[in-house]
Formats: sequence, C-alpha cells, structure tokens
Amino acid sequence: MTETEPVAFPQSRTCPYRPPTAYDPLRTARPLTRITLFDGRPAWLVSGHAAARALLADPRLSTDRTRPGFPAPSARFAAARNRKTALLGVDDPEHRTQRRMMIPGFTLRRATELRPRIQQVVDERIDAMMAQGPPAELVSAFALPVPSTVICALLGVPYADHDFFEGQSRRLLRGPTAADTLDARDQLDAYVGELIDRKRKQRESGDGVLDELVHQQLRDGEIDRQEAISLALILLVAGHETTANMISLGTYTLLQHPERLAELRNDPALLPAAVEELMRMLSIADGLLRSATEDIEVAGTTIRAGDGVVFATSVINRDEDVYADPDTLDWHRPARHHVAFGFGIHQCLGQNLARAELEIALHTLFDRLPALRLAAPADEIPFKPGDTIQGMLELPVTW
Ligand code: HEM
Repeated sequence: MTETEPVAFPQSRTCPYRPPTAYDPLRTARPLTRITLFDGRPAWLVSGHAAARALLADPRLSTDRTRPGFPAPSARFAAARNRKTALLGVDDPEHRTQRRMMIPGFTLRRATELRPRIQQVVDERIDAMMAQGPPAELVSAFALPVPSTVICALLGVPYADHDFFEGQSRRLLRGPTAADTLDARDQLDAYVGELIDRKRKQRESGDGVLDELVHQQLRDGEIDRQEAISLALILLVAGHETTANMISLGTYTLLQHPERLAELRNDPALLPAAVEELMRMLSIADGLLRSATEDIEVAGTTIRAGDGVVFATSVINRDEDVYADPDTLDWHRPARHHVAFGFGIHQCLGQNLARAELEIALHTLFDRLPALRLAAPADEIPFKPGDTIQGMLELPVTW
C-alpha cells in the first residue's frame, strides 16, 4: 500500500495500447492499493497478478451492481446500476443457472464451426474496402461490421438492424450523459423484447442462440421474458463492441510494431500466441468491478465487507513477477494466463468466438492488404476515453 494520495481511477490512456502513465504508481504498489473513483468515493485497486486471480475466483466478491458499495467508474454507470444485468451482474447461484443455459452457444466447437462464416464475412468486408479505396476508415469499414455480422448470425439477430443496435450500444457505453445511457438501455430493451416476441410467435425455431433460448428456456418457463431480454442484451452488446475494439486497436498496435508484424507474416503459426499477447498488452476491458460481501485478507491488508474493488487489467497483465519486460510485445512469451478476458465464474463467455474472430480478421487483413499503413500521424488518431472499453474511435488507413 502506498501512503501517498490515492490515484484517480479511471483515467484516459496516453498511448492507446499502454496503461495511462498516471497509473505508474499502481504498478509499484502491488498487489493492492487505494484509488478514488469519479465521484470521490474510495475503492481498492487490485494490481498484482496472483492476487487478481485469487480475488476474481473468490465468492466473497460480488458483481451485483445494486449493492450499496459497488464501485462506479462513471456517472453513466452509476445511473444505470439498478437496471438488471444478466450474467455479468448476478452472483451464484443465479449466475450459474444463466451461464449453464448459454454455454452450448459459446463452446470452442461452436466457434470452430463458425470459422468459415467468419472468414467469409472478413473477406467480403475487405473486398468492399478494396473496391472503394484506398483510403478507408477501418473502424466503420471493418473492425465494427465483422464482429457485428458474426454475432448477429450466431444469436439470430437481423444484421439489417445493425445501425440501430450499434448506435444505441455506443450511447449505452459512452453516451455524453447518464440520461443518454438510460435512454439507450430502454431502447435496446424494447428492441430485444420485440425480437424475442417475434421469435416466440414463430412455430419453427431458427438455429440462433436466441431462438434456442426462446424455444427452450423461455417456453419451458425456466426464465421469464425479462430475463430473456437481459440475457439477449448482454450477448448482443458484449458480442460486437469488445471484439471491434480489439480489431481496431490490434491493427493500430501491429502497425506501430513493424518487426513484430513482419515476424507474424513470416510465420502465421504464431497467430494464436500473437492474439493472446495482444489481448494481454491491450487489456481493453481495463477496470473489472466488484464489491466485497465479507472481510477479505489480502497480503496483510483487509478489504472490508461493503468495500468496492476494481481490477486494472492493464496493470495486472504487466506484473513483472509473471511477465518479463511486460511493456514489450513478444509472441514467444507464455501470455495465456492474462486476465484480459477476466477470471473465475465471470470469465468471458465469448472468448472462443473472440479468439477465432481476431485470428481470422487480423491475419486476413494483413495478408490481403500487405501494404496496409496508417493514413494519418499515429499520435493524431483518436482513441476511446478511459471510462469505457478501450479501442480506436477512428482508424484512417491506406494501402
Ligand atoms: C476480444 C473481445 C472481448 C474481450 C476483451 C472481452 C472481455 C471480457 C471480460 C474482461 C469479461 C469479464 C468481466 C468481469 O469479470 O467483470 C467478459 C465477460 C463476458 N463477455 Fe466478453 N470479451 C470479449 C468478447 C466477447 C464476445 C464476442 C462475447 C459474445 C457474446 C462476450 C460476452 C461476454 C459475456 C456474456 C460476459 C459475462 C460472462 C459472465 O458473467 O458469466 N465477450 N468479457
């Protein structure tokens, strides 16, 4: 623990693929230190890798956002905290029941079966970019539409609605005001509710994950309509925003590391390891949130029942005890134990899908556009603020 002034959390990055320099004190204060949240409230910040994995697997930490001590990283999060969030916002045993329902749709096998479809979506987007450019704005032309199309196919959501749900997800995650966030949530709830009602009326079930949910769990009374909406919503939002950010920021990072990119091109077998290392390095979900339901001892410090606990994944994934030279991209390090997909019962449900998408998207992009490069000075390209999932706001490229 440091005796100095607590660091304010979250803060915006200075370089889009590194933790904010303002987090430097957190890197020397492992495994646990105090931070101050946007509203001035204190919380614990976990920065050590071993402590993070132990705590993320500890049932005494809750993800129930309605608990009074639950930490809020922004006003918009605080405003929406009473809205029910499936999976990520519920503890066991409710969580276990929901997760069991959703697992069949997100197995490694299902992700592997989706690979040809992902490849097709990726190829079509690159065909369109090549037909219209160069240059191109990679977020809107590629990074967002690829995962958005894929999650629509997997869930059974019409891609024709993408402008609507992408726009509302943007407002939900980083709308200018808390009122915007709440309105976006209402609009998304209404949209998903209508979708579920339409599927309910179909006599034959489609083969999407949401069709299965409606024609099995909802029909059999295992869940009610509201729970179905809440599950569908998190899958739709988490399923496109996160991967889109990894594709845009991953591309930017590779373009800033030409030797690593060349190494990857020469040996595509490195691709799975490279995706893992990019996940570690970029840590785009940088601030996982919990609150303690009981006192917990960590390295001689007591987290009190009711205290807020935040996990800075970008700092945890740079713990020198686990990763030598952690700020360097290295395809040969064992990066797999990173916490960029979380850890414990809430570890990312979509990670098999995300890995498949990232491998195919990044490989195909650099394979088909070998001269791909930034079309603006790297330090002028805007990226996302610290209180949301990290990624590029825009990515002007040429080839
Ligand atoms: C590279 C992209 C992705 C990243 C970095 C990512 C990151 C994460 C992280 C860190 C968590 C845990 C949060 C916590 O413990 O507080 C999580 C949970 C989750 N993710 Fe992902 N995710 C990605 C892609 C996806 C995709 C494609 C889906 C597809 C639907 C998805 C669905 C979910 C769901 C449903 C949860 C909650 C799981 C639970 O509580 O049981 N994610 N993700």
